Amino acid sequence: MTDPQTKIAPATEATIDEAARLLRAGRLVAFPTETVYGLGADATDDAAVAAIFAAKNRPDFNPLIVHFSGVEAAAEAVVFNDRAQTLAEAFWPGAMTLVLPRRRTSAISLLASAGLETLAVRVPSQPVAQALFDAAGIPVAAPSANRSSAVSPTTAAHVAEDLDGRIDMILDGGPCPVGVESTVIDLSTDTPALLRPGGIPAEDIEAVIGPLAAPGASDDAPKSPGMLSRHYAPGRPVRLNVGTPRPGEAFLGFGSTANGATLNLSPRGDLQEAAANFFAMMRRLDSAEYTGIAVAPIPDSGLGRAINDRLRRSATPADGVIAPPAAS
Ligand code: TXA
Ligand code: MG
Repeated sequence: MTDPQTKIAPATEATIDEAARLLRAGRLVAFPTETVYGLGADATDDAAVAAIFAAKNRPDFNPLIVHFSGVEAAAEAVVFNDRAQTLAEAFWPGAMTLVLPRRRTSAISLLASAGLETLAVRVPSQPVAQALFDAAGIPVAAPSANRSSAVSPTTAAHVAEDLDGRIDMILDGGPCPVGVESTVIDLSTDTPALLRPGGIPAEDIEAVIGPLAAPGASDDAPKSPGMLSRHYAPGRPVRLNVGTPRPGEAFLGFGSTANGATLNLSPRGDLQEAAANFFAMMRRLDSAEYTGIAVAPIPDSGLGRAINDRLRRSATPADGVIAPPAAS
């Protein structure tokens, strides 16, 4: 998916068009926002979103922010409530991200929201980002454009230090004026909560919609995967490192040896393909048709680490010892 040669281009009409074409083709493009540089991919393309996790070298799946050119486009992916409408009018375009329920009909990749029922959406104000989204005409999933564990980049040079050779293009739009990430507000429950302080002060947001709870304060199922952990959790028991499923179980296979798999994450044993399919296939197998989900061994390297991390968290302790990762 990645190009060994990353093109670093000052943002012009021509390079923005080129970046938009790359995004539409499922490629990775880093671009400036007013907060920090984002590592963008087509948010509706599971394989492109998997490529983001691979380029960042993440050992787990954190849900990503999906960026839109305007609130109307965002409203096609998530359900806006009154508070969301009010905050969008007050602070968009700008350094605020809203977590809202996904629409059932949403075209956004389940991998982008890490299998959750919610989605983080944002409309940035940076003119290059705006022009890029207009030209691409697709929602753009974008975490900060740094390798996992590095700090967020605020110049194109920072992005290059971390990701040169791992992505297709870096659009250089100069330094990011805000310099810290967006403020993340969870509006998916009745109690608005601050999930991440950021570019727009929480006080400014509270001045518009009233007090914000700390993450998870009044919700017994907190949902900021970065800080507290509410994760995608299947409704049925999950067993890991299974060679032969039990009668009644769905069998999620990997590679060519998974005989009789109900679904196969990647028959050719490609971990990035497996990541792209992971949440969507788990959803399909989490069905009343089956007593549980048995998962074939998945190598614990590359994106396999993130898949295994998520599987271990969803495996049922009641089922016995949670298996260690399979050898890679
Ligand atoms: O300023 C920013 O927000 C930058 C620019 C590129 O827009 N993006 C950014 O993305 O910082 P990232 O992936 O590095 O951070 C996203 C944050 C994480 O803390 C993640 O856990 C949270 O948003 N998040 C995303 N989706 C969520 C969801 N459905 N529920 C709860 N938290 C979510
Ligand atoms: Mg980040």
